Amino acid sequence: MKRASLFVVVLAVVVAAAEAAQPKEIVKTFSDPKVQTFNHLVVDKNTGRVYIGAVNRLYQLSPDLDVVISEVTGPKMDSDDCSVLECNTGINKKLTDNVNKALVIDYTTTRLIACGSLSQGICTVRNLHNISDGTREVREAVVANNATASTVAFIAPGPPIPPVSQVMYVGVTFTLGSPYRSEVPAVSSRSLDKDKMFAIAQTAVTTGTRMFVNSLARERYPIMYVYGFASEGFSYFLTIQMKHTTSSQYISKLVRVCHDDENYYSYTEIPMDCISEAQGGRKYNLVQAAYVGKAGSDLASDLGITAQDDVLFAVFSESDPVVANKPSELSALCVYSLKAIRRKFMQNIKHCFSGKGQRGLDFISPSLPCVPTVST
Ligand SMILES: *[C@@H]1O[C@H](CO)[C@@H](O)[C@H](O)[C@H]1NC(C)=O
Ligand SMILES: *[C@@H]1O[C@H](CO)[C@@H](O)[C@H](O)[C@H]1NC(C)=O
Repeated sequence: MKRASLFVVVLAVVVAAAEAAQPKEIVKTFSDPKVQTFNHLVVDKNTGRVYIGAVNRLYQLSPDLDVVISEVTGPKMDSDDCSVLECNTGINKKLTDNVNKALVIDYTTTRLIACGSLSQGICTVRNLHNISDGTREVREAVVANNATASTVAFIAPGPPIPPVSQVMYVGVTFTLGSPYRSEVPAVSSRSLDKDKMFAIAQTAVTTGTRMFVNSLARERYPIMYVYGFASEGFSYFLTIQMKHTTSSQYISKLVRVCHDDENYYSYTEIPMDCISEAQGGRKYNLVQAAYVGKAGSDLASDLGITAQDDVLFAVFSESDPVVANKPSELSALCVYSLKAIRRKFMQNIKHCFSGKGQRGLDFISPSLPCVPTVST
């Protein structure tokens, strides 16, 4: 069978630079010596204001990077044994850093959503004009609850009535060590309706807009969420996962759900390759960062698309020879048209319907052989 390759253009291979390049002219800078790590940055496309989520701090800056508000969000007394709602006095709490895990602008309601690692990963809803005025803290476990476990969050259309209604799509790595994490889905769509803020957008007894990793697999099968985006009726997550539940090899996968889907029945994954033919087929397997945008006219014509079509730019690394889920120093940038990605999903789904291969998703339920369906 011809292997339909997804990767289209490997733009550059970046060998670790010995010296960092300096920009010619720094116009403005912002720093805070009290804070070691900045986790997220978003810019309001309407006002130019800049918001930064950091460890124990949240900043609102002017478009010129002047600090308008610096809000202290931690450290606070916390424990993995505390539920999202309460923390009984018998529990041994420790002063714990609040690491910013998600920072998203909700343009529909002109709010800033900031989620931190404390209290099982809760979010606050804030005023974009003044992030410390009228802050609402919502007691719902949404993001990862430790400093390193991954979280990706973005707003896109979703139930109940897409494309009118918007929800927050969240992908979260499962963490060990707390009795409450089994209730947090790996992927979910969360309501942005103020009466059910951050609740799972649509729920039924066993279904809804959420996907859990099978309880047997999730401890051995960590999924790292690297980037998330929406395009033409679907939401996507770029992830790093083990190749099989019984493998020590890691690969990158693209996860997709349909915006119209109230039960995540459309949840599908495809592997993402970034292969450099110029280097004899060298395979960059670990996605590190990505961005969805539009192609310029040259790139669009290379990819056989128009300049209005979405394009995914993703930077990959090779696995470290010793620790397979750690990136080595070699990296490459691959560019994919969303049109090609949609085609690949469609091919896989068609293959499956014609009875070929396995459905995959070992970790959600045992992988079943594809069953031929009769088309009419
Ligand atoms: C933001 O709101 C807080 C609380 O209402 C207020 O004390 C502060 O002065 C406001 N800051 C700005 C820059 O408006
Ligand atoms: C966060 O949780 C993951 C999964 O349980 C674990 O591997 C990682 O070491 C934890 N990180 C920290 C800083 O505790």
